[in-house]
Amino acid sequence: MELSMIMILVLILVLVLSAIFFLHSWNSPKAMEGIPGTLGWPVVGESFSFISEFSSPAGIFSFMNKRQQRYGKVFKSYVLGRFTVFMTGREASKILLTGKDGMVSLNLFYTGQQVLGPTSLLQQTGQAHKRLRRLIAEPLSVDGLKKYFQFMNNLAIEMLDQWPGRTVFFTLKVIGNMIMSLEPTGEEQEKFRANFKLISSSFASLPFKIPGTAFHNGIKARNRMYAMLDSTISKRRNGEGFQQDFLESLLKKHSKDASEGDEDDDNKLTDKQLKDNILTLLVAGHDTTTAALTWLIKFLEENPAVLERLREEHREIQDGRKDGSSLTWSDVNNMPYTNKVINETLRRATILPWFSRKAAQDFEIDGYKIKKGWSINLDVVSIHHDPEVFPDPQKFDPSRFDEPLKPLSFLGFGNGQRMCPGINLAKLEICVFIHHLVCRYKRSSRWAILLLQSIQHQILGSYTSNLTLYPPLQVETSGEK
Ligand code: HEM
Repeated sequence: MELSMIMILVLILVLVLSAIFFLHSWNSPKAMEGIPGTLGWPVVGESFSFISEFSSPAGIFSFMNKRQQRYGKVFKSYVLGRFTVFMTGREASKILLTGKDGMVSLNLFYTGQQVLGPTSLLQQTGQAHKRLRRLIAEPLSVDGLKKYFQFMNNLAIEMLDQWPGRTVFFTLKVIGNMIMSLEPTGEEQEKFRANFKLISSSFASLPFKIPGTAFHNGIKARNRMYAMLDSTISKRRNGEGFQQDFLESLLKKHSKDASEGDEDDDNKLTDKQLKDNILTLLVAGHDTTTAALTWLIKFLEENPAVLERLREEHREIQDGRKDGSSLTWSDVNNMPYTNKVINETLRRATILPWFSRKAAQDFEIDGYKIKKGWSINLDVVSIHHDPEVFPDPQKFDPSRFDEPLKPLSFLGFGNGQRMCPGINLAKLEICVFIHHLVCRYKRSSRWAILLLQSIQHQILGSYTSNLTLYPPLQVETSGEK
């Protein structure tokens, strides 16, 4: 009896000491004391308000905005298991995005790191990162994209013919075809779509790899996707099924092939690196483009004058064609107003609302000392809504892009070492789709309602897996087909 009493007392003492130790360590890192803000509750920090604001219609901006008003442009917090410094402004962007190479690395969530694999471009830094960027630059360049234009154009026409009452899988089909010549319909496409959906959902999931969880399902789907790629790679190496796609260009020029004796060539990719990076392009390129297209249509619906001007640009292109022929490559490269509408969409909607980095060394920003290992989130929404650069910032006004802007005031595709390598592809997809949309359909008050579901997904932070247009749908046709 006495012994058990002593054991209970010892246990209580251990618990109290652990709690004191924990609360003490909670206040650390000491260096953070100089940064305004609060870390919130022990263990969870401010994660609950972060998640709940993230899921609100105002999105993560409201979490940042409230604290910016209280503490200023730089504040600290503890969210999702990380000591984080939030900051905004062009000065911070300059240091974080275009600063010394190797000073910061990209800061993916644990689930994203596991699903994409360690050799993904998103997890590389320094020379390895530069080398990977060089390899993907050519197929994603304006010239490299030319060969996919016809597929995209035909697909947009076909999709819009089938639009009423259907879900449109435009961006996923485009990227599947570009990467591995996937046919737009059929069993392979279905498998690809199902796997992609699971992979996509696993990114914003809890990090428990237990059967049935989104994370576990995502890893399984990733493995199935890799098996699909393995089988295509081996067919291509055996000389079967040659295609002019991204995979072929990587296999031909940049993959380590034992039969060619280039295992030690650091400029070539192993099959694992190749798969990790193909998946990275799929993940980074699909949901972003879908969300941008969705927002753009919503903004057009809300701004009839902009829609009218956009339609004029596209009507002129249409009228300039002989014999009713379809859109051409040179047409898409000559859509100045459309490009301004795209930029204004990316400003107002800010598809990636913050850029997340991890300090790879100690450095200083805006007079604040940042320590190696801390997370830093650059709030891009505030940069895009700075009234000094964008007067009346809530207004959707593509003419803001008539004149060049101050450097680093528009970060729709990022800047510096990690600037989006898919910018040309994204713009091409949007220009082609929008051309056929505005030439074919009149403004319909239903556009906005139909698109709301996918927009909501985006605001909720889960990724829009497709541009989803819900039935029942009576789209007003313009009669100009
Ligand atoms: C409208 C569509 C798109 C938007 C708004 C967008 C936006 C961005 C932004 C803001 C970044 C920089 C993020 C940062 O600095 O943390 C980025 C990086 C990236 N984007 Fe895009 N993107 C789009 C489409 C695409 C497409 C189509 C692809 C490829 C097929 C792509 C592939 C990537 C990759 C791989 C990175 C990481 C680059 C690196 O870490 O070096 N994106 N994107």
